[in-house]
Amino acid sequence: MELILNILCALIPLIYLVIFVAKENRRKGKKHYIYGLVVAAVLFLILFVIRLIALTFISNESTPDNTTTTTTSTTTTVEPTKESTTTKKSNYERLTTPAGGETLGTTPKGYEVKKIDGLYYVDGYLIANKTYSLPKSYNPGKLKAEVETAANKMFADAQKEVNNNMWAQSGFRSYSTQESIYNRYVSRDGQKEADTYSARPGYSEHQSGLAFDVCATGKSCIDNGFDNTKEAKWLSENAYKYGFILRYPKGSDKVAQTGYMYESWHFRYVGEDLAEKLYNNGDWITMEEYFGLTSSYDEKPIGE
Ligand code: DAL
Ligand code: ZN
Repeated sequence: MELILNILCALIPLIYLVIFVAKENRRKGKKHYIYGLVVAAVLFLILFVIRLIALTFISNESTPDNTTTTTTSTTTTVEPTKESTTTKKSNYERLTTPAGGETLGTTPKGYEVKKIDGLYYVDGYLIANKTYSLPKSYNPGKLKAEVETAANKMFADAQKEVNNNMWAQSGFRSYSTQESIYNRYVSRDGQKEADTYSARPGYSEHQSGLAFDVCATGKSCIDNGFDNTKEAKWLSENAYKYGFILRYPKGSDKVAQTGYMYESWHFRYVGEDLAEKLYNNGDWITMEEYFGLTSSYDEKPIGE
């Protein structure tokens, strides 16, 4: 979108100038090229201001490509506490691993795999990837409360440190929302391509209420343009302190493990303890690598 606006910004005054010069050349008498130049410059300035306003508006209001609007607001009333960034105790116990279910087996890395009410848990952590699906009926309706609280703390701290507003543009997505998003991408790019960046319905982490996509004011939203911004860098270096992981990290080995292209904007809550391990001093480890899991539509869950 930013690219299109940039092109329009430069192209419209240029086209005007070319037409003006051509007309002047055909005109008899003294030529007034300077008028054309002035009008083109003013046109450029006006378009540039419109572009700035449009970019801010798009980042704040639009529902970009593979998203739906989420419940997390753009501002927060939750003040960050010292505890939020220093306490090692994870919130995660309060979030997941209901009692009961059946044990399916153990991963090659020695972690227990359980199935509870149709959901898969590995070492107590809910897993949603191309091998481990969620039931169609699973619908928490919004981001889990603890996730939203942790996200608000993170965004409040980010605001102070990078001096910009960040928010969860796309959080919880129901099975049917994911279905329409995915189908739209398949129609646009074909299934093979869509599968590299969009989850099939029932396989998206967004359906779990534990994950969201981040946007920042004035920055490219939920696309590769977000990478290398100071906001994306801050998130990548600090999200683990709030219990979040960069779920789809960069690198061909990691892309092969998760089954998805690098997404600098997609974060998932796992609690501070695991998040710090997966952060791995900046060299993110994927959940698949850490637990010894596959993420492929051709693979079945361990024990099934
Ligand atoms: N973009 C991620 C993989 C999803 O669709 O859930
Ligand atoms: Zn996402």
